[in-house]
Amino acid sequence: MQDRIIVALDSPDAGSALAMAERLRGRARWVKVGMTLFYAEGPDIVGSLREMGFDVFVDLKLHDIPHQVRGAAFALGSLGAGMLTVHASGGADMMEAAVEGAREGAVAAGVAPPAVIAVTVLTSMDADTLASVGVVDSPADQVVGLAALARTAGVDGVVCSPREAAAMRALLGERALVVTPGVRPKWAGSDDQARVETPAAALAAGASHLVIGRPITGADDPAAAFERIVQEG
Ligand code: C5P
Repeated sequence: MQDRIIVALDSPDAGSALAMAERLRGRARWVKVGMTLFYAEGPDIVGSLREMGFDVFVDLKLHDIPHQVRGAAFALGSLGAGMLTVHASGGADMMEAAVEGAREGAVAAGVAPPAVIAVTVLTSMDADTLASVGVVDSPADQVVGLAALARTAGVDGVVCSPREAAAMRALLGERALVVTPGVRPKWAGSDDQARVETPAAALAAGASHLVIGRPITGADDPAAAFERIVQEG
């Protein structure tokens, strides 16, 4: 269980992110660096966390022409990222470029290649926001369609809400990574997450990894909160 929790380090600067990582060192295997921290501190933050012994999920949700995405994925692959994200809506060629770029970057640097996982529909988007950008399908249909496209492009899995995890597991098979944010133990508040599931429910639905931020990073004792989630899972 402890290897399946990815702690979201959503602090805006390296000092506080590394201080939080220090408190979780030796317990958590995975930490997530999102675009706020990455763009503020640059690629060095990934190396610093790797040197502390963490596997690093670099969640930059790449979305550009395939040539640019190949280059970005090469750079992230060469940093030794363990996972990276791309937007499935960038298309199959773009996702293939990400997979190839990430692998080539890792080979060039002599590190293990990262898993490339696809973001389907942002959970901040509902049917109205999808319609406003020209998507007439329901969010659920759009998620399935984009996940099927991602599979053809050779990605390793998807990021999705726990409520979509069972459908993603059925569609993508047992070896796919199904990474779910929106996870809350019963004893934690839901913060701004509108629809949450417990860690046990997300795993039962087929999630391979759980992204959990504030219930751990906002706790008085983050290491104890992490352990409590592990014990309950
Ligand atoms: O603090 P909390 O557990 O809500 O953090 C969840 C993490 O997962 C944050 O980094 C957030 O940006 C990310 N995320 C999310 N919902 C998505 C995709 C990513 O909450 N659909």
